[in-house]
Amino acid sequence: MKLFLDTADIDDIRTAARWGVLAGVTTNPSLFAKVGGSYDAVLQEICKITSGPVSAEVVAEDVDGMLREGRRFAALAPNIVVKVPMSEEGLEAIARFSDEGIKTNCTLLFSANQGLLAAKAGASLLSPFVARLDDINEEGMTVIRELASIVEIHELAAEVLVASIRHPRHVTDAALAGAQIATVPINVLRQMVHHPLTESGIVRFREDWQKAQAAGGGAIPGAAPARS
Ligand code: E4P
Repeated sequence: MKLFLDTADIDDIRTAARWGVLAGVTTNPSLFAKVGGSYDAVLQEICKITSGPVSAEVVAEDVDGMLREGRRFAALAPNIVVKVPMSEEGLEAIARFSDEGIKTNCTLLFSANQGLLAAKAGASLLSPFVARLDDINEEGMTVIRELASIVEIHELAAEVLVASIRHPRHVTDAALAGAQIATVPINVLRQMVHHPLTESGIVRFREDWQKAQAAGGGAIPGAAPARS
């Protein structure tokens, strides 16, 4: 499963890229509002950091407006994917973008049927939202499992991109469900790195190493000298 970062924050995107885990980025108007500036400039900067898909979301609600915004985004960089909300107009725009060779990510999906429609219209990425369903006492991961199965059984060209992730368990469950991509906020990515037993294990190894040094043990070639 590929990991995308769910943010418009350039520093966070650089961090994930340095860790070697970044396969793409998703943005939306709310995430962009947190960083401000020019959306186009932010998108171009992100596209310099990753060659993976970078989702740029349209805000128009009519087909012509979506096409206008999406074509402008697509001209910014070759790896831009136009993010289109699910609606009757959104499906039409996705189909038109597909005819033009512009890749799309259909967003705000809350049922497997919505995802199926988006794939049929020509979206290359399908973004079901997990936590927003959990928030209303639904089982968000059920939609992910259903949509991932539909994509696999019917060999659809689209990939399931799990969005609205709030904690590391969502990532594990999305991977087990067979989703191709999870888009993860930076705090969840950091949570995935850490484990209390890893942290305490590092401390214990360092302390034992220092004890061995103090007792006159042989140094490992190339190892840093023990700190006192
Ligand atoms: C990304 O594509 C989505 O817009 C994002 O994951 C939504 O997350 P939220 O439900 O936490 O706002």
